[in-house]
Amino acid sequence: MEVIIQRTSRSASAYAGRLVSRLLQEKPAAVLGLATGETPLALYKEVTGLHREEGLDFSNVTTFNLDEYLGLGPEHPASYHFFMHEHLFRHINVPSSRIHIPDGLAKNVPAFCEGYEKAILDAGGIDLQVLGIGTDGHIGFNEPGSSLASRTRIKTLTNRTREDNARFFQSTEEVPHHVITMGVGTIMDARHIVLLAFGERKAASVAAAVEGPITAMVPASILQMHPRVTCLMDEASASQLKRADYYRWVFQQKPDWQQP
Ligand code: PGA
Repeated sequence: MEVIIQRTSRSASAYAGRLVSRLLQEKPAAVLGLATGETPLALYKEVTGLHREEGLDFSNVTTFNLDEYLGLGPEHPASYHFFMHEHLFRHINVPSSRIHIPDGLAKNVPAFCEGYEKAILDAGGIDLQVLGIGTDGHIGFNEPGSSLASRTRIKTLTNRTREDNARFFQSTEEVPHHVITMGVGTIMDARHIVLLAFGERKAASVAAAVEGPITAMVPASILQMHPRVTCLMDEASASQLKRADYYRWVFQQKPDWQQP
């Protein structure tokens, strides 16, 4: 795992933006795995700016989102379809035919999930997966206890996650109990994973994921087994890392050719 601690979420997001930009320059038809929530907003602003000002081209890019609430259609303001359109897709030139987000209104959920896995494979697999982390250590909506080999499927949210996400709804009661999420195994198949974590409230789950034992109780901890993970965080979310000084030192020594 490469742990990069930046002073602010803004500079960490700018760094993530450069990773996306470099990938698209090297591979214009890249497959991106995308996340929702508060965490990736600054990254989406960043890539939107790169598209507008520097012509970063998404016309051959394919996207797969991590998850969606079951029961919410794309018009629902708290749905991840709505979120993605609002914060990213309407600002860049990715063709709608190449955008994939789990269908919150799927009638046959297992069949939908199987098809989603197949679509990722048919697209050649995910080149770069953007991830946030839950305060309970989840990635995607893979809550503690999720199989570390799981694939896209239905999951039941913990009440903690429902409370964390209530700010996007009128009340906690409105937050759906069920979601479709890529599995931990699906996420682990991505060739490069960029985990973003910002703010004090993520400090404990970041420390458990990066420096704790690998356990299904902290699904993000499995990222320690992935050959290419970049963890980008701000000072607040890094505040419980025991080896923070070492990560800072490694980053300062990073050879120029490794910089995005
Ligand atoms: P957040 O959620 O970005 O809204 O904090 C992250 C997550 O739950 O993965």
